[in-house]
Amino acid sequence: MQFFIDTADLEEIRQARDMGLADGVTTNPSLLAQACGAGSDWRAQAAEIVALVDGPVSLEVFATEAEAMLAEARELVRLGPNVVVKIPATAQGLLAVRRLAQSGIRTNVTLVFSPLQALLAAKAGASYVSPFVGRLDDVGHRGMQLVEEILTIFRQYGFTTEVIVASIRSPEHVREAALAGAHVSTIPYKVLLGLLRHPLTEQGLDRFLKDAAKLG
Ligand code: G3P
Repeated sequence: MQFFIDTADLEEIRQARDMGLADGVTTNPSLLAQACGAGSDWRAQAAEIVALVDGPVSLEVFATEAEAMLAEARELVRLGPNVVVKIPATAQGLLAVRRLAQSGIRTNVTLVFSPLQALLAAKAGASYVSPFVGRLDDVGHRGMQLVEEILTIFRQYGFTTEVIVASIRSPEHVREAALAGAHVSTIPYKVLLGLLRHPLTEQGLDRFLKDAAKLG
């Protein structure tokens, strides 16, 4: 399973990349606003992110009409060959996805909350779909069931669209995504660190350090 890092924070991306844990990056308008603040130059931030990693970097369009999405997408892909254009799962979005696929531009269809949205996105030619597991869990559904259903449908019909498990909130989400066979988990930096943490590792290290001190 590939690990993308779900952040627009340059330092977090650098840290994850240097540990070999950033196969790619996903951003969205909320993450960019959080990382660079309101009214700042988000395009400069996006350009830096694109330059930091070799893998795919998802940058989201702000427009809601297909023609405007296409214009934004053409601007975004100028930032680097690794840019993937993130487009919401709407009818206008799928019109844009189709046209971008025809011109060889990769897309990530976001805000996916049903297997049928994912099926339509794959048929339109999306490179990735992003089911939001945490937000489904929040409203009493089992987000990971959506991932399992999308994977079954894609396998059944031989779609090459990859599934990015998004809105990850805990290490358990990552474990379940890996068990389900998802292609990618996009993980907030804090959760990424949480994957590594184990009390027995900490206790064990503490004991080794004390014994090492006795050895001089
Ligand atoms: O990748 C999508 C993700 O950023 C959304 O996460 O926690 O806002 O639901 P969250």
